[in-house]
Amino acid sequence: MDTNRGKTYYVTTPIYYVNDAPHIGHAYTTVAGDVLTRWHRMRGESVWYLTGTDEHGQKVMNTAAANGVSPQVWVDQLVEQAWLPVLDTIDVVNDDFIRTTQERHMVRVQNYLAGLKDAGHIYKDSYEGPYCLGCEAFMGEDELVPGIGEFEGHLCCPTHSKPVEMIKEENWFFRLADFAERLIAHYEANPDAVAPRSAYNEVLSFLKMGLKDVSVSRSTFDWGIPVPWDPEHVFYVWFDALLNYATAVGLGDTDGAGAEKFASTWPADVHLVGKDILRFHAVIWPAMLMAGGLALPKQVFAHGWLLVGGEKMSKSKLTGIAPSQIIDVFGSDAFRYYFLRAIQFGADGSFSWEDMAARYNNELANGLGNLASRATAMVDRYFGGALPQVSEYAEADLQIAHLWQRTASAADSAMDTLDFSAAITGIKEFVDALNGYLTEQEPWKVAKAETDAAMARVGAVLTTVCEGLRGVAVMLHPVMPKSTVALWQQIGGQTALGAIELQRIDQAGVWGVLPAGTTTNKGESLFPRLVEDEA
Ligand code: ME8
Ligand code: MG
Repeated sequence: MDTNRGKTYYVTTPIYYVNDAPHIGHAYTTVAGDVLTRWHRMRGESVWYLTGTDEHGQKVMNTAAANGVSPQVWVDQLVEQAWLPVLDTIDVVNDDFIRTTQERHMVRVQNYLAGLKDAGHIYKDSYEGPYCLGCEAFMGEDELVPGIGEFEGHLCCPTHSKPVEMIKEENWFFRLADFAERLIAHYEANPDAVAPRSAYNEVLSFLKMGLKDVSVSRSTFDWGIPVPWDPEHVFYVWFDALLNYATAVGLGDTDGAGAEKFASTWPADVHLVGKDILRFHAVIWPAMLMAGGLALPKQVFAHGWLLVGGEKMSKSKLTGIAPSQIIDVFGSDAFRYYFLRAIQFGADGSFSWEDMAARYNNELANGLGNLASRATAMVDRYFGGALPQVSEYAEADLQIAHLWQRTASAADSAMDTLDFSAAITGIKEFVDALNGYLTEQEPWKVAKAETDAAMARVGAVLTTVCEGLRGVAVMLHPVMPKSTVALWQQIGGQTALGAIELQRIDQAGVWGVLPAGTTTNKGESLFPRLVEDEA
């Protein structure tokens, strides 16, 4: 039973189109959500983490047809064979996985949108204009860009660089224009509701240009959720998809588990999205919620793009790298660490094998991994594998303690603004400082004197390093769940303090937690060196 009476911290990723297998762009968002989830859990909060797949629409339907199978067969195969397995590959602990073809979703979408129609927010009209299949979006003429190369002479979508389709059909429309003023007022009153700042500014200036009503249904194909009051139509895929965040936690249920779940979970605390789908999330979605009288998400965070050759990595441009290509070489922990450390969350970034290998070697293998093996080897050698009682610390030891207190508190605050890179970089710099400290203190030389005083000094140094590693293990656990469990085992945290995931991250800055007598275990190296031709 959930004994936490406060609201659950609710994190979501976009639900991804299943026109193809996942690439590292999708894994990037999902890993970020996972790190956030684990971090908040280690603050002692109740957390709910949702991800899933967006299975309707013309793009998925066309892909299935091109592969000679029905859309349902296609999406079932791809979800089973690619989208669910990738969660294990990247070591993600989502609480739920929603598929928009699930009954629970379809029924709640139909009920919610029928409610909006009854309340007068939806009317029938006809649409004529450009449509981008890649975006699954109705476009304004003014948004299009001239095609280049094989698409010269065509008007193209700026994101997908592919020609748009001109469509003309009878559609149901949502009165989006009615919400522009209320959305502006909402964002002016809640400047953190869209982040980072550049995304907030983009949304606000878009809203200030005024909004047009938008189609909520399509009538020229049938791969979608039927519109209950007009079965010739299916809901436009974005109206179906956006609602997943709410249907997955019981939207519209008036009693039972669904109603309870919704009350304790809604609104979402953060919708993580790529900047490609910012407007859907920061304009259409809150308007849909306002129309139904529901609370708005506390934040939409639009991160940047992983680029290949200066362009967004994408399925449609065939520039996607599968997460396993990188993880087979570096492991899932290094993958998670790399993307959140090397790219400022919110900015674009390029993946490069060279940069990945350099950071793996410098920061993980030679940095954290080497520090742990040096420290535990010396505790073995000088103290038979158990931390000694320390009666006196020197100034250099206390400086390390203070540095850690500052690092831990800064890292925990950085996570409040989803500044993964600042949090991880701070911890990495502390590891560097700890490595430097160990080198300077030269306990292996001090030990040569073999006096009680010398051994007391060696004990203080090694205890300081192990205590520093305790804090590092706890705070890096959300980022690198596997190797920090191994590190925790090596420094004796498991036996002395219990499971790592039960440690409180918001108290990780407290110094002097590992007790004297803690038994360390020199183990396998945390980040094995790369075989030359692998990297
Ligand atoms: O847009 N860099 O699905 P999608 C960083 N179904 N992130 C990337 C990326 C890249 N190069 N490529 C993809 C859809 N992503 C809709 C969403 S939500 C109600 C419906 C990530 O398969 C990023 O999170 O095109 C981006 O927003 C998302 O995948 C788009 O996935
Ligand atoms: Mg896309």
